[in-house]
Order: sequence, then C-alpha cells, then structure tokens
Amino acid sequence: MRSLNMDKLVIEGGVALKGEVSISGAKNSALPILAATLMTDDACIIKGIPELRDTETMFKILRTLGKNVEFDRGIATVTSGRRKSHIADYELVSKMRASFCVLGPLLAKLKKAKVSYPGGCVIGIRPVDLHIKGLKALGADIDIDAGYISASADSLKGNLIYLGGVFGSSVLATDNVMMAAVLARGKTTIESAACEPEVADLAEFLIKMGAEISGHGTPVIEIEGVKHLHGAEHRIIPDRIEAGTFILASLITRGDITIKNVLSQHLGALIDKVQEAGVQVRRMDSSLRVSCRRQIKPVNITTLPFPGFPTDMQAQFTSLMSVTPGISVVTEKIYPDRFMHVAELNRMGANIQREGPHAIISGNKDLSGAVVMASDLRASASLVLAGLIAKGKTTVTRIYHLERGYENMEKKLEELGARIKKDKE
Ligand code: UD1
Repeated sequence: MRSLNMDKLVIEGGVALKGEVSISGAKNSALPILAATLMTDDACIIKGIPELRDTETMFKILRTLGKNVEFDRGIATVTSGRRKSHIADYELVSKMRASFCVLGPLLAKLKKAKVSYPGGCVIGIRPVDLHIKGLKALGADIDIDAGYISASADSLKGNLIYLGGVFGSSVLATDNVMMAAVLARGKTTIESAACEPEVADLAEFLIKMGAEISGHGTPVIEIEGVKHLHGAEHRIIPDRIEAGTFILASLITRGDITIKNVLSQHLGALIDKVQEAGVQVRRMDSSLRVSCRRQIKPVNITTLPFPGFPTDMQAQFTSLMSVTPGISVVTEKIYPDRFMHVAELNRMGANIQREGPHAIISGNKDLSGAVVMASDLRASASLVLAGLIAKGKTTVTRIYHLERGYENMEKKLEELGARIKKDKE
C-alpha cells in the first residue's frame, strides 16, 4: 500500500479545535492479536484494525510465515496458506519491535521459532530477557545466534512464572508467554503480568479461539493449557493512546472536542491529570467531551505500567505542559531515555531541561513554529500538538513515524478545524 516516504506535515497553529472525532482500533491490541492467528489453521476475522504502517508490517510478517491476509475497511481475514515457516527475519522485525510477539505463537504451534533479535531503538535499549525467561520456564530451549533467537520445545509444560523486571511488567513478554502457555500441557500462572487493556484484549481473543485463561487485566494470569485452538472473530478495542492524544489536542488548543469510540476506563490516569490541571472531562457512554476555555494549571506526571500514566502519552503531555505557565516535572519510569522530543520542543521556544529520567518544564504561553524532526511515534504526536498551538508555521518532518501508529491523523485534525496539510519533503 504505502512505501517509506519522507512526507512532512505543515501546520499553521492557533485554531481552537472543535467538533467530533472517532477513535480507531488499538494498534497495540491489533498487533499481538494478528500474531495469535498463527496458533490456528482455521480462518480468523479481526475487525477494527487500524490502517497503519505497523499493521501493514504485521500482515507482511504473517504472509512470510505462511498465512493469507486480506484486509478491507478495517477487517482482516487471516487464513492458512499451503506452506508454513517458523522464521521471522531481520528485515521485518527491525521495522517494528512488536514483530517479536510472533515468537510465542510460532513456538506453541510449530514447536520451533526463529525470530530476529529486535535491537534497541531511539527510546531506549529495550531488552527481551523477560520473554526468554518466560518461555524457558515453559520448557523451551533458547539459543541466540547471528542476531536471531531460536526457540524450540517438543512439548511445552505449564509453570509458575514471575515476569516482573527492573521496570515492572512487560506488555509483549506477557503476550508471548501467555500465548505459548495456552497450548502448553497443564497450568501456567504468570505473576507480575502486564495489566494493560491490550493484554486483556488479546486474552479475550484467545478465549474465543478456545483458550482457558482467567485473571487477564490483573497482575496474576492463570492459563490451563488446551490441545487445540480454532478460528474466531473479534473486534479490537479502541486505541486509548489515540484518544488521549485528542484529549490533549483539545486542551492545548483551548478547543471543544467530543471523542467517540473510547473506553474511558482505559484512560483513568490521564483523565485524572487533566482534571488536576483544571479541566473537567465529561464521560458519556462510549464518548468523552473535553472542552477547555481557561488557562490550565501545571501538573507533574510519572509514567508507570497500567493503570498508571502511560509512557506512550508522556511526550504529548510534555507539549501541553510546555505551554502551561508554571513549573511541571515529568518523570519517565518505563523508558528513562524517552526524551527525544525535548530538544525539538525547545527549538519551538519551550523551556524544558532534562535531568536523567526527569524533564523539568518551565511553561511558556507561546511557542513559535519551526521545522522539527519526528524521531519516533509518540514524539511525532507531541510535535504535532505543539504545532497546533505555535505561532506561525510548523513543519514536522519524517512523519512516517506518526503513520506507524495514528490512522489518518491529519485528516482527523483537519475535520476538527486544524490548518494542517501533508506535503512531500
Ligand atoms: C509495549 C507497547 C509500547 C509501550 C510499552 C510500555 C506494544 C506493541 N507496544 O511495548 O507502545 O510503550 O509497551 O507501555 O504493545 N523490559 C525488560 N525486559 C523485557 C521486556 C521489557 O526489561 O524482556 C522493559 C522495557 O525495556 C521497558 C519496560 O520493561 O523498560 C516495559 O516494556 P514493555 O512493556 O515490554 O514494552 P513493549 O511490550 O515492548
């Protein structure tokens, strides 16, 4: 569909956003759920898949592993092809770390998997020790050679696995180990499991496929192994990070936005901080209304695993605080180096000082438009938010990062009144 282009976004700041926006399906649910289709030979239908660079990469990976994938208007139909492969190669895994979540499904279904070792990325070193620890505990032999992790096991056996690491729980390690345990013999208990809604969504899909899982969404997940999984149909939950980004777009532009297709229970920590800053968020059935007329107050945030404040909203919140008069402190406890956006925001007139895992922000009322470079997915979103309020023209380059995780971002913002357009670099 799309090639890696060098498009840029050009934004004329200063418009208060108004109107309604509908949130797409969650990228971080879609990716492991697509990977889970590797665990059955039957057809699976997954609805609400956002059309993104990352979901496209996952389709490509599934195809190289022997699946047929058809994608039409948010619905992916995954069926089995004639030849299966257990090798996920460097070219695709290096594009997207989440590709690593094919490891558990391949091991469970084919008894062997060879997946490129994902490297670090701009947000940090990002080890995979917890994935390896969990799969070893299920009886897998793991070998690391020439940049690949090979896992094999004649049969996996359930176990008690403590999966907490230095930075707390791990989303994709929980996904990988849970998927492998589903087809293991006997009972597995994962302690210190990630509680993120996307992990729970994956568990719901696996249950529809015939898995026996309980406790998902809590730190203790219990899995009773089954022999076989069948095909299933599932709809992906709404993307809480996209919803959160639009909440902040409303605040930063002093707008009035109704955000549809959201689950507000997935946004508790963010909504709490928004209220602490002085803005009421009106929760309706499956939508939220965020209207901001007054100057907001500076607040401190600390990123933590769910239900704490999400690291994937840290950069966007930093943009908001940089236009909020007063001092605020952002503490990053998941990826202590995730501050690539700081230098770019400072180029727009923000006053942010980085001290180890903290960003100390002296909020200014005004930012000024500049040419800034997107370095990763959420950093790109923070620059777009800054551009929406900056005086004059902001050009955000390398927006392929943004397209990894936000479906039609510029179109959605345009419909809310933003002066934004995509251009060739
Ligand atoms: C997922 C999300 C990503 C989000 C992150 C944290 C997907 C596809 N991606 O990434 O958007 O920013 O959760 O909420 O769902 N860690 C280890 N050892 C491991 C694995 C992780 O020490 O084996 C550390 C990481 O370096 C990090 C922390 O644990 O400090 C959390 O990372 P993790 O939850 O694993 O992130 P991902 O699942 O890769």
